[in-house]
Amino acid sequence: MLDYVTDKVQDETRQGEAFAPFANDPNVYKKRFYIESYGCQMNFADSEVVASILNKEGFGATRNVEDADLIFLNTCSIREKAEQTVRKRLTEFRKLKKRKPGTLVGVLGCMAERLESNFLEEEKLVDMVVDPDAYRSLPLLVEEAETGQKAVNVLLSRDETYSDISPVRLNSNGISAFVSIMRGCNNMCSFCVVPFTRGRERSRDAESIINECKDLLEQGYKEVTLLGQNVDSYYYTPPPGENGATRATVTFAALLESVAKISPDMRVRFSTSHPKDITDEVLHTMAKYENICKYIHLPVQSGSTRVLQLMNRTYTREWYMAKVDRIREIMPDCGISSDIIAGFCTEEEKDHQDTLSIMEYSQYDYSYMFFYSERPGTLAERRYKDDITLDIKKRRLQEIVDMQNRLSLASNQKDLGRTFKILIEGESKKSDADWMGRSSHNKVFVFPKGNYELKKGDYVMVNATGCTQGTLLGKIV
Ligand code: SAH
Ligand code: SF4
Ligand code: F3S
Repeated sequence: MLDYVTDKVQDETRQGEAFAPFANDPNVYKKRFYIESYGCQMNFADSEVVASILNKEGFGATRNVEDADLIFLNTCSIREKAEQTVRKRLTEFRKLKKRKPGTLVGVLGCMAERLESNFLEEEKLVDMVVDPDAYRSLPLLVEEAETGQKAVNVLLSRDETYSDISPVRLNSNGISAFVSIMRGCNNMCSFCVVPFTRGRERSRDAESIINECKDLLEQGYKEVTLLGQNVDSYYYTPPPGENGATRATVTFAALLESVAKISPDMRVRFSTSHPKDITDEVLHTMAKYENICKYIHLPVQSGSTRVLQLMNRTYTREWYMAKVDRIREIMPDCGISSDIIAGFCTEEEKDHQDTLSIMEYSQYDYSYMFFYSERPGTLAERRYKDDITLDIKKRRLQEIVDMQNRLSLASNQKDLGRTFKILIEGESKKSDADWMGRSSHNKVFVFPKGNYELKKGDYVMVNATGCTQGTLLGKIV
């Protein structure tokens, strides 16, 4: 069941998950590493790149932190709470290090870039600090750390995309995989730390993306999610071909189409779209291919034009609403979800009401909802006062959550009686007599297996017969 997160970033519900071992025989590996990931899907995808880099060096993964010679935390800085969680975890690892001297601890990801060497000097908690663009140097940094030196690489890059590295899929259901298509972000949303932790935007070589998706299909995967902070600004210019011939630039719409064409049997999703950048061309491409899922994550952040301006989102309330209309015009059944921030600097009661009303207008199927958390170094921190009290932030957030709960229930009720093509992702967590899967519009379905010969990764038609706010219940037809 989908539950509404109040201070969690997209998919942070998987927070802290360790990776499954991919080594049956620990003896063939020089060292064993354990990696725990926090934050957005990009971070989880990066951990798979890290696993691949370490694997090539003869390191094997372990799910059990007690067995590990190397412990990595892939961290998130998006809100203060995310950082607190990581700090707490680090103090736990310090105890483990006392018990098992020689165990090395590394901080990867967005906090590494934000805090740089502060982890080493002030806190003596960690041996390695490595930012999101420096994972290729991990094997060297491990060697350095082993000699007792502190190993740091926090140099952001303008061109690193790890395009040639095939991520090691760990802890995956074997059905859906994330494929990173770009890194960094050039937007300067005033509340956001990502442009500082992940650097300039750059697009990954289109061919390497398509090859990775083809490989996934061959391995039995049935769904790929193309990932970037702002996928609609994907823009890849291939190097000149033979005889110096120039080759066409690849836009996101073109990339989406190429991936969709790999196989009609493989679903394609993507995240995240910035409302200012998603084009009609992308919407038409989505409509044209059955296997491109009819679902868009279109974060609004606020429903007030005044606040949107302070947030530097570069669209107005009306512009956003027109975008929602356009999506529904081209794809009447498209699911839409959002990210919403309550209590941004100067937010008044009427701005908050604007947020509630834009949610209702957009009829979101789902939202990730947060209260504003000031981040050091961001534009908002430098320019505006974080002047909304925690009580008011929390009260407004609760009203936003209540609104979303009503919208989600209404959205599910609207689907009752209809039949959907569901991709089976596995057994239901609650009962092995039931399957769990998703529709194209990203709703979670749970339904009895019945007497059908089906397996994970199969498509099946399911009629929606009942619902809660988070799940549709159904039967196979
Ligand atoms: N690139 C994505 C979002 C990345 S961060 C996009 O542009 O939509 C995911 C979400 O975290 C954001 O959409 C925003 O709602 C939330 N967020 C980011 N910074 C925040 C902050 N300082 N306080 C509270 N929420 C924040
Ligand atoms: Fe942050 Fe805005 Fe970039 Fe998203 S688009 S990562 S919210 S700066
Ligand atoms: Fe967090 Fe970095 Fe992602 S700050 S949300 S892990 S890009």
